[in-house]
Amino acid sequence: METVVSGIRSTGNLHLGNYFGALRNFIKMQHENNCYFFIADYHSLTTHPDPAHLHSNVRQVLSEYLAAGLDPEVSTIFVQSDVPEVTELYLLLNMHVYIGELERTSSFKEKVRKQPENVNAGLLTYPTLMAADILLHKANKVPVGKDQEQHLEMTRKFARRFNTMYNVEYFPEPSAYNFGSELIKIPGLDGSGKMGKSEGNGVYLFDEPTAIRKKVMKAVTDQGPTEPNSVKAEPVENLFTILKVVSSPDTVAFFEEKYNNCEIRYGDLKKQLAEDIVAVTAPIRERILEIQKDEEYLRKVVKMGAEKARESASKTVAEVREIMGFKKF
Ligand code: TYM
Repeated sequence: METVVSGIRSTGNLHLGNYFGALRNFIKMQHENNCYFFIADYHSLTTHPDPAHLHSNVRQVLSEYLAAGLDPEVSTIFVQSDVPEVTELYLLLNMHVYIGELERTSSFKEKVRKQPENVNAGLLTYPTLMAADILLHKANKVPVGKDQEQHLEMTRKFARRFNTMYNVEYFPEPSAYNFGSELIKIPGLDGSGKMGKSEGNGVYLFDEPTAIRKKVMKAVTDQGPTEPNSVKAEPVENLFTILKVVSSPDTVAFFEEKYNNCEIRYGDLKKQLAEDIVAVTAPIRERILEIQKDEEYLRKVVKMGAEKARESASKTVAEVREIMGFKKF
């Protein structure tokens, strides 16, 4: 049995990238492993959310976790800020993390480009907090999408560095994980790049079917192939990438053949894609609506999760303190 840890930031509703990159893997892993899944509300602070929305965002992601199939009876589902032990580990790890390596992180460089007016220290040390989340429960596996690969590499480096520095075999070196294959990147519907919460190119689990159909029908494509077996342009390849995760292999093969014979009608492809996305999201949306109303259930889930997570977290922090030389008078 492996220990699995992962989380999603509470910066808005979950989209297909979050679902297929991470959440679906959490759900598949929960029965065979010792799993900790959390809502990363401390991480959401790097973009300065309005205090009036912080809690409702956490609540929404929690409802979406449960609606998608995370089972609080078998997994530890918790809110990051309910387990403040993580902040101590974050501080302790930061003493062995170097500014240069943090500045070289791709996600940091991207944020500096995108939000030059808000390059806060939390953004710089984001990978340390993420490492603390993972090492706090001594995880071996971390189900995440492709964009988190570098953060996992850094987590392994920090774990190794700690072990070497104190001459212990304490932290395992966790790996990024996707069920049965490579880590994945779900593209957006706007023709380039990944699906993201702030990119305006996403399909959300909570979207109504009519909204999904509208978004998909408007997705960027091209003029269509003019020669058999031609390479697909990025926007078209992107639609096929999404088709591969939501549709049956027969459907994918059907449209591949149409494309390769230059007979494809993008309208047909989009209609099928929209219906197959709706088939995944509509039942989840229904459950989100139900779960959101059940305040008592949500409260019970986070309470139970926080207790279980704090048990494991406080044990790790106590051991780390001891390794580092802290002693009680
Ligand atoms: P976040 O909130 O940006 O994304 C949550 C998860 O969704 C995955 N993801 C995608 N996967 C495939 N295609 C996409 N277009 C796509 N967009 C998002 C992400 O890879 C991620 O797995 N730093 C993390 C949250 C975090 C965390 C952790 C994760 C904090 N501490 C500890 C694991 C372990 C983040 O920003 O994810």
